[in-house]
Amino acid sequence: MNYERAWLDYEAGLSGPDVEKDGAVQLEIEIKTEADGGIQDAVMENAVRELRGAFGPKEQDGIRKIRLVKRQAPAGLSAEGYHLYEDKTVSNAGNEQQDGVFVIEASDSNGILYGAFELIRQARMGNTLRGLDILKHPGMPLRMMNHWDNMDGSIERGYSGNSFFFAEEKVLVNDRTSAYARLMASIGINAVVINNVNVDKAATLLITQKHFEPLKKMSEIFAGYGIKLYLSLNYAAPLELGELESADPLDEKVRGWWKKQMEIVFGEIPGLGGFLIKADSEGRPGPFTYGRTHADGANMLAEAVRPYGGLIIWRCFVYNCQQDWRDRKTDRARSGYDNFIGLDGAFLDNVILQIKNGPMDFQVREPVHPLFGGLTQTNQILEVQIAQEYTGQQRHVCYLLPMFCEILNFMTYVKEDEDTVKEIVSGRTFGQKNCGMAAVANTGNDENWTGHDLAAANLYGFGRLSFEPELSAQEIAKEWIRLTYGLDEQVEETILFLLMSSWPAYEKYTSPLGIGWMVNPNYHYGPSVDGYEYSRWGTYHRADHLGIGVDRSHAGTGYTQLYREPNASLYDDPEKCPDELLLFFHHMPYTWKLRSGKTIIQHIYDTHFEGVEMVDEMERRFAALDGRLPDAVYARIMGRLAHQKEHAREWCDQINTYFYRKTGISDEKNRKLY
Ligand code: GCU
Repeated sequence: MNYERAWLDYEAGLSGPDVEKDGAVQLEIEIKTEADGGIQDAVMENAVRELRGAFGPKEQDGIRKIRLVKRQAPAGLSAEGYHLYEDKTVSNAGNEQQDGVFVIEASDSNGILYGAFELIRQARMGNTLRGLDILKHPGMPLRMMNHWDNMDGSIERGYSGNSFFFAEEKVLVNDRTSAYARLMASIGINAVVINNVNVDKAATLLITQKHFEPLKKMSEIFAGYGIKLYLSLNYAAPLELGELESADPLDEKVRGWWKKQMEIVFGEIPGLGGFLIKADSEGRPGPFTYGRTHADGANMLAEAVRPYGGLIIWRCFVYNCQQDWRDRKTDRARSGYDNFIGLDGAFLDNVILQIKNGPMDFQVREPVHPLFGGLTQTNQILEVQIAQEYTGQQRHVCYLLPMFCEILNFMTYVKEDEDTVKEIVSGRTFGQKNCGMAAVANTGNDENWTGHDLAAANLYGFGRLSFEPELSAQEIAKEWIRLTYGLDEQVEETILFLLMSSWPAYEKYTSPLGIGWMVNPNYHYGPSVDGYEYSRWGTYHRADHLGIGVDRSHAGTGYTQLYREPNASLYDDPEKCPDELLLFFHHMPYTWKLRSGKTIIQHIYDTHFEGVEMVDEMERRFAALDGRLPDAVYARIMGRLAHQKEHAREWCDQINTYFYRKTGISDEKNRKLY
């Protein structure tokens, strides 16, 4: 197995069951465009290379052609979409079955490339190619990866080695760059931010002459795969580069500086897509210093990049991280909403607000961020995290696609229909073209990209979901398993079981009922019930001997009222609030009966023991795959499952013991508590 090729590890001469039955698909690629002649761009070339790599070189016998047709506005096709079908009207001479020609039709090169990957995927999944007829458009315009890589090669919240974009304050461009771009294109990613949102001194220099050359090269490799390169920007660059004394967005000198700088940057890296900005958050500089708003800051940058078609992606992860734990009125969950809702409509149209899926910070369970459905006149990107910062750090299996699907399908009630998060970020709800989805990436320079082999399902899955948001988590998992490990049914069934049980299991053995946190501060791994309880971070569970949870009802912090009806009333009433979020919204006695019929305390005990049993079962089933997977993969996964089991037990015992000691209430089933 060639790990670098991950789910695209195929040899020329691909054959699936159907292909074999029909006589191999041999390749003769024909390219047509409207203005025939010089159509060949790098993206088309990569599409052809992929098809040749998969189906083999042209041979004389039994040839089936693949025709790539790029022309303006073919029927029913818009940007990046493709029509992949078998054209039976043109039969192949010498082909006994009278099979037709495979056609990939699109209006642009990205569409052709995505169509090529679709054809390869269909064949490798073992699906019939006969009568193929697939017309698809990406479900959202921007499908982004956000890497939190630092110039020294470290990765903030990275769990699979070091960066393959940077080392020793230099930009790296090598084989891994194209291997990465190829993988991303195969799942439909079209935008990549390569550096950490926390832009340090060295990364501030990415917009200077020092790094233009390799960045330009990288952007060209990306462009060959239909991907735009983006950078995270330091809002205070004019100050930190020592050129000005202020970064005030309304100061003409500052505005002029950015315009000039952007002229230079886009002149040197014409393929650049734009910038991602974390401002006035966790110590990062921003417009607040000058008494200005986020809109002032974002719009200043948007004006500077506008002549080059650039986008400014501005993050909404803004909150007070110097909170006093004694203060029960300030609520971190409110802060994103409170900071941005008043600015709805104030941003230029090349600004996009990037909003984390929940109001806190990528916990195993959070309600959907109330800015979704709150904002009606602003471009929006949904930000999720496949780096498993709070979900087991790629030592535990935690397949996150079921969570992402739930979030996308959440009804905000912002309109009578087309009101889900999916419809908002696809651009349908408000007719926007600058929106989409971004994931904090989980890759590094480990040979298998993601540390845990099964974490690659999140990498693959995020891209596929952003391209086809109607897919289910289960369908995506199946695809990934088949493409990565082949068509062995036992392998598929077992790994599917592991993936699909993993998020529920993780939720069960960690913090209960939507409360979140309870992790070791700073590095966020392993249980520490009170780790964040008396800290400045605004992340409290408020447990005492009678009850637990944060009162975010109308009588508490008022957070529930940030949602539209009927969500506001649903969350506000503990009788109606979904169990899994109860303690996020309410402070409740341990003896409170959940909708499930169990008391909170018994639910805590039961779920924690169940979570451990689930991991036990996962390990037991996986062990039976010995000999059916490459040895190294099997060994790596077994090793991590053993750790996960032990660690799940630690979580279970610490959480259960904590609540047993706090409440004095015994487990109805008399299991071991300490
Ligand atoms: C979390 C994470 C940080 C990160 C931040 C962000 O707080 O722990 O490492 O910088 O999110 O999203 O900006």
